[in-house]
Amino acid sequence: MKSTPSPLSSFIKILFLIILSWTLLILTPMIQFGAQKPYEEQVSGELVPLPLSGLAVRGSQIYEENGCASCHTQQTRNHPLDSASSYGKRATVTRDLLYQPATVAGFNRWGPDLSNIGERKKSADWHHQHLFSPQSLSPESIMPSYSFLYEKRKIKAQPSSEALKLPASIPLEQDEEVIPTSEAKALVAYLLSLNQSYPLPESPLHEDSEK
Ligand code: HEC
Repeated sequence: MKSTPSPLSSFIKILFLIILSWTLLILTPMIQFGAQKPYEEQVSGELVPLPLSGLAVRGSQIYEENGCASCHTQQTRNHPLDSASSYGKRATVTRDLLYQPATVAGFNRWGPDLSNIGERKKSADWHHQHLFSPQSLSPESIMPSYSFLYEKRKIKAQPSSEALKLPASIPLEQDEEVIPTSEAKALVAYLLSLNQSYPLPESPLHEDSEK
């Protein structure tokens, strides 16, 4: 007859498994990545990546809350397709994420990779119009409108300097203007901050991107 294991030996086995998984899943990555520091660029002496502004940090929360990562990745691969689509000049590495409040690497590419969108699309006006009405800039787009991040209101004495410059194809009522909410402004600040075009020793720029 088989003897039942003593409670003490079961306890030691369970404790061993917990310590092993903690070491492999928490302690090892902490040692590998926890001590990463910004890199001092040789030419400019600038430390990269740059820390995010407070507004961009708020924007990253809006990005998370609105499920942008369900359609967009933020991880450029070391793959010819990614450099051909100008998603990035090099592969994303962990040091790029040093100041990112949350890792929203994503796993679906229903839309383009956004790890370098701040380099590709530098205009805040473009982003606001695109978020308000993606189809006004890309007619076939499946991206939903985020018009709820904007306020439509009657023009007061004179149009606000913050009002979106929308094309005539987006119908508005007479004397109506569209103003970005603080959430839309934060989201766009975050998108403009996404830029990994600096070289890192562990991820040099692709040869063809240095021309
Ligand atoms: C249902 C999928 C989907 C969701 C959700 C989505 N997008 Fe998109 N997005 C797309 C597609 C498809 C495109 C490409 C066509 C276009 O420009 O609209 C795109 C394009 C973009 C672009 C332009 C990329 C480029 O290279 O020109 C930006 C910026 C962007 N999305 C930001 C966002 C943000 C921010 C959110 C969340 C608030 C979001 N998207 C949510 C599908 C999506």
